[in-house]
Amino acid sequence: EKSASRAELLLAWYDRHRRVLPWRALPGETADPYRVWLSEIMLQQTTVKAVGPYFLKFIARWPNVTDMAAASLDDVLRMWAGLGYYSRARNLYACAVTVTREHGGAFPETEEGLRELPGIGPYTAAAIAAIAFARQTMPVDGNIERVVSRLFAVEDELPKAKPEIQRLAATLLGPSRAGDSAQALMDLGATICTPKKPACALCPLNDNCLARTRGEQETFPRKAPK
Ligand code: ADE
Repeated sequence: EKSASRAELLLAWYDRHRRVLPWRALPGETADPYRVWLSEIMLQQTTVKAVGPYFLKFIARWPNVTDMAAASLDDVLRMWAGLGYYSRARNLYACAVTVTREHGGAFPETEEGLRELPGIGPYTAAAIAAIAFARQTMPVDGNIERVVSRLFAVEDELPKAKPEIQRLAATLLGPSRAGDSAQALMDLGATICTPKKPACALCPLNDNCLARTRGEQETFPRKAPK
């Protein structure tokens, strides 16, 4: 019998160990693009733990993007108070208004379409496209860079290695569960493949990990000396 691919091992692990987070759909349900967008903006520079209560507060007050667009920028800024990086809140509101006025309240379903919206860069566009619209694309943030650079022992230093890491990360997409594949890598990076002392014994990909085979986990990703 054919051995399971990395993508399959990763999804099997996610099905058993996925973190329960307020913006995640239940298994088998499709994620609400509004919730995915809101959570990804909040998570750009803020931890999962800190985002939780803010996310719930926003969703309770503005259940959908059109409700948020009907508020004022000052309302949004007041609700954001404490999360930091306030340009995110300004872009959030501008994006809600654009989606409501120019897209009839429906988020664009492609990475390219999403990229045109305020506050949505390459990472966030890929995350929303994969998680909310099942597009075959892998969002790559610093955590996923670390996981992928270890798995494949990417020797080039950051930032030069970014295109190679992006290409390798895409090989970890399951055939029809891109959002789960992406969030599996996020969870793996947050809970197991940590910057210091990764818990390799618990990793579903440990037999496939070139850095671990060499006992060099913590030396990836390679970085130029400061
Ligand atoms: N960090 C950024 N996006 C995330 C997500 N969808 N789940 C967990 N952590 C994240």
